[in-house]
Amino acid sequence: MITIKLGFVLICTLILNQSIAQEITKLPEPHKTGGKPLMQAMNERHSSRDFIDKDLTQQQISDLLWAAYGINRPEEGKHTVATSRNVQDMEVYLTTKDGAYLYLPKDNSIQKVLDKDIREVTGKQDFVKVAAVNLVYVSDFSKAGNGTDEVKTMTAATHCGFIGQNVYLYCASEGLISVFRAYFDNAEVSKALNLSENKHVIYCQTVGYSK
Ligand SMILES: Cc1cc2nc3c(=O)[nH]c(=O)nc-3n(C[C@H](O)[C@H](O)[C@H](O)COP(=O)(O)O)c2cc1C
Repeated sequence: MITIKLGFVLICTLILNQSIAQEITKLPEPHKTGGKPLMQAMNERHSSRDFIDKDLTQQQISDLLWAAYGINRPEEGKHTVATSRNVQDMEVYLTTKDGAYLYLPKDNSIQKVLDKDIREVTGKQDFVKVAAVNLVYVSDFSKAGNGTDEVKTMTAATHCGFIGQNVYLYCASEGLISVFRAYFDNAEVSKALNLSENKHVIYCQTVGYSK
């Protein structure tokens, strides 16, 4: 009897996980024009940590993710950030109070990978659990060529730098605040996101509204 019950629970869990894994949300078309002039946005770029509990709109999430790692030349499949030898190793995960999502740049969509709030796991500072969004920047080393893990990490960190700056500038333009972060437990974030062993969390970045 216990074996039958366990089997039933296992099947239900598998079905649930599969349905969550397949839940894809198409985002509104990102705004690719407008915003503050670039020089003004650069002048206003800064790190801030006084987040309040206020959600971003779907449009803001679309614009934010597009700025971070969207496709800006669809005919070539290239991104808003450069990657070494165009390896395109990066994945951007969005964590909000509603769950964790993988950004799918080609489809301008987000795929739900977790149905729970893991914002708190993405950093060791109190504001991470309050802010609307914590982005997690992951490199897929299986896409990053033949170098050593040290070289791949350095290259991925550079890719993250570009992503992070785009996010800072978007936030400056949109009146949001942000902070790029290294202070998190890598193993905990990887475990929470169920990342396979070739995927490495490089940095995180918090985004939201200021007090
Ligand atoms: C690689 C890197 C890691 C960082 N890690 C953290 C972090 O874990 N927590 C944090 O509050 N700020 C972090 N910051 C933000 C810096 O503290 C911030 O950029 C610096 O104080 C300069 O301030 P500014 O960004 O306003 O110019 C990090 C910045 C960089 C570039």
